[in-house]
Amino acid sequence: MEYLKKLSRFVIPYKRFGILNIICNIFYALFSTLAMVSLMPMINVLFGETEKVFVKPEYQGFKHIKSYAENSLNYLITSTTDTYGPQRALLYMIFLIIGLFLLKNIFNYLALYFITFLRNGVLKDIRNEIYDRVLHLPISYYSEKKKGDIIARISNDVAEVKNSLLAILELIVKEPLTILFAIIAMFTISFKLTIFVFIFIPISGLIISRIGKSLKRKSANVQREQGIFLSTLEETLGGLKVIKGYNAEKRFNDKFQDSTNRFYHFSNILLNRQNLASPTSEFLGIATIAALLWYGGSMVLIDKTLSGGAFIGYMALAYQILTPAKAISKASYLVKAGNAAADRVLEILETKSPIADLPNASIKSSFDSDISINNISFKYEDDLVLKDFSLKVAKGKSVALVGQSGSGKSTIANLVTRFYDVNAGSITVDGQNIKDITKNSLRGLMGLVTQDSILFNDSIKNNVLLGKQDATDEEIIEALKIANAWEFVKNLPNGIETNIGDSGNKLSGGQKQRLSIARAVLKNPPIMILDEATSALDTESERLVQDALENMMKNRTSIVIAHRLSTIQNADTIVVMHKGEIAEQGTHNELIAKNGTYKKLVDMQSFE
Ligand SMILES: Nc1ncnc2c1ncn2[C@@H]1O[C@H](COP(=O)(O)OP(=O)(O)OP(=O)(O)O)[C@@H](O)[C@H]1O
Ligand SMILES: [Mg+2]
Repeated sequence: MEYLKKLSRFVIPYKRFGILNIICNIFYALFSTLAMVSLMPMINVLFGETEKVFVKPEYQGFKHIKSYAENSLNYLITSTTDTYGPQRALLYMIFLIIGLFLLKNIFNYLALYFITFLRNGVLKDIRNEIYDRVLHLPISYYSEKKKGDIIARISNDVAEVKNSLLAILELIVKEPLTILFAIIAMFTISFKLTIFVFIFIPISGLIISRIGKSLKRKSANVQREQGIFLSTLEETLGGLKVIKGYNAEKRFNDKFQDSTNRFYHFSNILLNRQNLASPTSEFLGIATIAALLWYGGSMVLIDKTLSGGAFIGYMALAYQILTPAKAISKASYLVKAGNAAADRVLEILETKSPIADLPNASIKSSFDSDISINNISFKYEDDLVLKDFSLKVAKGKSVALVGQSGSGKSTIANLVTRFYDVNAGSITVDGQNIKDITKNSLRGLMGLVTQDSILFNDSIKNNVLLGKQDATDEEIIEALKIANAWEFVKNLPNGIETNIGDSGNKLSGGQKQRLSIARAVLKNPPIMILDEATSALDTESERLVQDALENMMKNRTSIVIAHRLSTIQNADTIVVMHKGEIAEQGTHNELIAKNGTYKKLVDMQSFE
């Protein structure tokens, strides 16, 4: 029940619905007991066993309410039978029963009606919060997590938690109250018989809790497996081209089926366990009733201490306990399943972002002098990717980073934009450590073009708009022109409203790159971080992309991770990287004159 405490803050905004639910359930429990009790006078009328009361009873305070109610009813029945005959009295009793059942069901519905808002509200809020977490957790969190698993948590697990919330409310309010009222009524009818019933309750409870054991672990298995097969599905959808191109359908099919088989196996065990709950408790209940029949029957037949009507009413009440007892055992299983799901939900909710803004982080709205990387070291896992690396980029200058693949170029972009934090050293903007600036304002100063173009399944307009949410169509077109993208966009049937497909798959590689450049251009930030795509483009699109980059870098401070000689030559400083360190640094001409690594790279025309 630990998780309940943690999730309770989601319930608080909806607590008025919870209260209304509890109130309705109190009435529900009351009327369902009264409905059963009302069977007694009905049977008494039927068999002419009603105690005759000829004088209208008087109300003598709450203490005597029971006998007052009994006597009033008996007086009504006696006088009606005398005046109109027993049939009319029976009709009255039937109306009484129907009325009570109607009230019981109305309150049952109302209770469910109110609780719906609580359940779905909690579902909505938890989902929103997980999504918000997903957006704010650092990139590093996702290197290890499978995306499908996160999808499973935000869809299935949250729904599971929602179900268990209802179960909990039933568990703590509705069913116990129903049982309580029924037991009170049972005690009033026959104390002796009720004590007898009580012997059976602990025995049943023990058997039922046995079944519920290990249900949490079983349910955790099921939920984990759901995450696994959703991840496989997600990867498959993303990699369909490779899967088909390499005839790997069978391999992926096997992987998926392995997972669904395990899921089949785990959920069979779980469901069969859960399904055991209500038959067991029903059978245990009916066994109790059978014992009651034997014991109570002898009270009616032999001792004559109980009337027939009272005994039947009593049996109805005892049966009345069965349903909630069944519901409780079922609900307690749901709670256990919800427990496992809640663990998975809470795991995301409680993950602290290591790159959260400091409480006194300042907002930086302009860029005035320089970006400086001071003796930083950084590792993703165990090996240092950057070692004691320093670099200064003055305002208005461009620096090109070149070097072999894996030398740490993209890592620099990751650190300057603070997707990761440095392990040692510092990065400053205008002398201010980027850890002391809000991430929002830091990233507001920067335009980012990633190595692989990241586009969304939406229109060209909306993809570019990410750069500046309130841009006009004219501004968008202007940005597209600068990025050399307008020439293909204008020929599209719907222009900037054209949908570009999943991750922009309806576009060519070069077109995608130019769109992501347009996005950065529209943002118009003082600093550009550009991770040039390594994918080879044909000379025509290469030139178009090249022009786009040059247009974008004009009058701007930029850090370009470059693979093309043409981009590099234009830079004010070229930094040649080798295994996370600076091998050489200078202008194109200086480095050629030096006749070192750079010269070799140029000669090979290879910057990878
Ligand atoms: N998320 C990550 N987790 C662990 N290691 C990583 C991660 N990203 C990169 N690396 C490692 O860090 C090193 C530097 O990677 P980086 O992406 O900076 O190279 P790069 O210079 O940009 O190469 P390329 O020219 O191929 O893009 C590589 O050895 C890589 O294996
Ligand atoms: Mg890279």
